[in-house]
Amino acid sequence: MNKDTYILAIESSCDETAAAVIKNGREVCSNIIFSQIELHKLYGGVVPEIASRKHIEKINQVIEEALREADKTLEEIDAIAVTYGPGLVGALLVGVAEAKAIAYATNKPLVGVHHIEGHIAANYIENLDLEPPFMCLVVSGGHTHLVKVLDYDQFEIVGRTRDDAAGEAFDKVARAIGLGYPGGPKVDALAKEGDKNAISFPRAKVDGNEYDFSFSGLKSAVLNYLNQCEMKQIEVNTADIAASFQYAVIDVLTTHAIKATKEMGMSKLAVAGGVASNSSLRESLKEACEKEGIAFYHPSPLYCTDNAAMIGVAGFYAYEKGVRHGLDLNAVPNLKIGQRVL
Ligand code: KG4
Ligand code: ZN
Repeated sequence: MNKDTYILAIESSCDETAAAVIKNGREVCSNIIFSQIELHKLYGGVVPEIASRKHIEKINQVIEEALREADKTLEEIDAIAVTYGPGLVGALLVGVAEAKAIAYATNKPLVGVHHIEGHIAANYIENLDLEPPFMCLVVSGGHTHLVKVLDYDQFEIVGRTRDDAAGEAFDKVARAIGLGYPGGPKVDALAKEGDKNAISFPRAKVDGNEYDFSFSGLKSAVLNYLNQCEMKQIEVNTADIAASFQYAVIDVLTTHAIKATKEMGMSKLAVAGGVASNSSLRESLKEACEKEGIAFYHPSPLYCTDNAAMIGVAGFYAYEKGVRHGLDLNAVPNLKIGQRVL
C-alpha cells in the first residue's frame, strides 16, 4: 500500500495568517485561519506594516493549531508548502522565513507555491472529479484573470484586467457608498435588497484581446452617479447602486468566461479567489454553464478567500512533480502565474 502524503501549508501573503495540513492532495485535515480584518477595518484597507507584525505574532500559534487539529506531528509531515508570491512583501516574508526554519529544523522538503495557483487549486478540495484541463476565472482582490489550466502545474493566461481587479472594484465602490472594508461581502449582502436594473452602469469593452477586462470605468461611473445625485440633491438608494454595480461586474465576468471556455474548446469552467464567494456571481456562472453544456466548479466560500488549505493542495501537486525549493527561497511580490523561481 502506498504511504499517505501529508503537506503542512502556510499562507501569509495579505491579511490572513493561515496554516493547514493536507492529506494526499485533496483531503483537508485542518485549516486554521487567523483573520486580521478587524485590525485593518479601522484604516479602510490592509496596512502592510500592521499585517507583517500580526503575522509574526500569530504564525506559530496558527501552525501549532493546524498540526494539533490534524493530529500530526512535524515528523509525520512529508513537505512544507508556503506562498512565496504574489502579495505584500513583508507579509510574504513572515511565512517564507517560517517555512524555511521548519524545513531546516526537520530536514523536510520545502515547496514554494504561487498564491493564485493556490486559489485555482482550491477547486480540487470539494470537486474530487475535477482534473485539468479546464478554464478558470480567477477573481480576487488583486487579480482578475482567465486562466487555461492545462495541467496541475501548467497555466496559460488568456485574459486579464487592464486596470482594477474585480475585488478591488467591489472594495472601492463599497467605500464610496459607505459600507466600509472589506467591501465585497457587504456589497453582496446589500445587493440582495436592491434592483439590479435600477441604474444602467457601463460594461467596458477593451481594444485588443477580447477576453481582457477593465473595471476602472465602471468604478468611475458609480462615483459620477453619486456626485450627480449629490449635486441634484437626489437621495441615493445604496441597495440599488450595489445591485446595479454588481450586475455590471458579473455580466462582464460571465460573458467573458463562457466565451473563452467555448471558443477554446474546453468543457469545464471553474471560478476561484475571494470574489468567487459572491453568491450572484456563482448563480450567474452556474446558469450560463448549464445553458452551454459546460460543467461548472467552484469552491465553498471558506476556500475562496485566502486560506492555507488551497496552498497545501497546490503544494502537494508541485511536490509530486518534484518541485523543491532551497533555503534561499525569497518572497516574490510580483510573481507571475506559471512562473517558478527556484
Ligand atoms: O482572494 P482574496 O481573499 O485575497 C486576494 O488574494 O486578493 O480576495 C479578497 C477580495 C476582496 O476584494 C473582497 O472584497 C472580495 O475578495 N470578496 C468579495 C466577496 N467576498 C470577498 N467580493 C464580492 N462578493 C463577495 N461575497
Ligand atoms: Zn488571495
